[in-house]
Amino acid sequence: MSVSEARRGPLLAIETSCDETSAAVLDGDGRLVSHLIYSQIREHAAYGGVVPELASRRHLEVLPELVDKVLADAAAIGVVPGAMAVTRGPGLVGSLLIGVQYAQAWAGGRRVPLFGIHHIVGHLHAVLLENPSWAYPYLALVVSGGHTELVQVEGPNQFEILARTIDDAAGEAFDKAAKLLGLGYPGGPAVARAARSADRERIRLVSGVMRHSADFSFSGLKTALRYRITNHPLNQGAAALDQGAAPPSAPREVAVLAASFEDAVVEALAEKTQRALDAHRPARFLLTGGVAANECLRARLKKLCESRGVLFAVPRSEYCTDNAAMIAVAARAGAGTVLSHTDSANPSLPL
Ligand code: KG4
Ligand code: ZN
Repeated sequence: MSVSEARRGPLLAIETSCDETSAAVLDGDGRLVSHLIYSQIREHAAYGGVVPELASRRHLEVLPELVDKVLADAAAIGVVPGAMAVTRGPGLVGSLLIGVQYAQAWAGGRRVPLFGIHHIVGHLHAVLLENPSWAYPYLALVVSGGHTELVQVEGPNQFEILARTIDDAAGEAFDKAAKLLGLGYPGGPAVARAARSADRERIRLVSGVMRHSADFSFSGLKTALRYRITNHPLNQGAAALDQGAAPPSAPREVAVLAASFEDAVVEALAEKTQRALDAHRPARFLLTGGVAANECLRARLKKLCESRGVLFAVPRSEYCTDNAAMIAVAARAGAGTVLSHTDSANPSLPL
């Protein structure tokens, strides 16, 4: 069987780039027959963020079990993978190494092809899981913990980055805001949850929009929130900044600040997306990455696309956050390169 035939046949995929351990199997028609995601969130929450060493150790413990389980599910319906795909980068180096070396051993031992997939290219193909006829070219907004990019996608390995963040990624901004507000980790869902009880009341924070640039910037917005908190009557003004100001303790105050922050991030993303839609006039638009799980963002960009007659897609939220199913469909679509046993994980793999 040729490598390209193996790509289109039953395929096993794994994802271990950050704090989710995940495995998936596609059948020969590209249908997802088994998919498991083990989230390490609870283990990292106590530290307020992902602890890389802890993440690697957990992947090492959990991954073989997950793979055995998805393979058993697939075998039960007669599906036996003849190829494998793995996230090669970017991500945490230790976590990526566990996944890539496991995959090299699995594929090498069976003499089947192994495809190394860029993590963001996985997010860019998650749309295929529910929308198999989705076609190139399309414009995509990728918003995750490490990335905020508007990408023109021409083919499985052909991308043009139209805009990126010059500082924090959107997800990172949510995570930092949650920390400032005394909400849990991961920050995005925590901020969104707190924001829901804020009714319509909002505080104007500076936006993440740089008027004269296509790029994003979120560090100013985070600082604006920080000043709002330290100027709160419960804190002691600017002096509290350096001593780690306490988060506001009144739930209503937290809710209003969370909602104001969420609105500002959504507006910044929507404004730059609108400019890109008007400049490039794509027929299709995809919203993807962990932050795409945000309900306000989904609704705002859907409306924006509809107003311009652009076909809008966003994966369901379990396919927006990190998962192996997106790595599997990206490999099947032709993304990535064949990895040999001497190739390595690459934590800063370029798009
Ligand atoms: O894609 P992802 O799962 O991992 C990376 O590749 O980074 O994205 C994780 C990011 C985190 O920063 C998390 O706070 C954010 O996605 N996130 C959200 C929501 N759910 C996850 N941000 C805003 N609203 C959400 N509902
Ligand atoms: Zn991701």
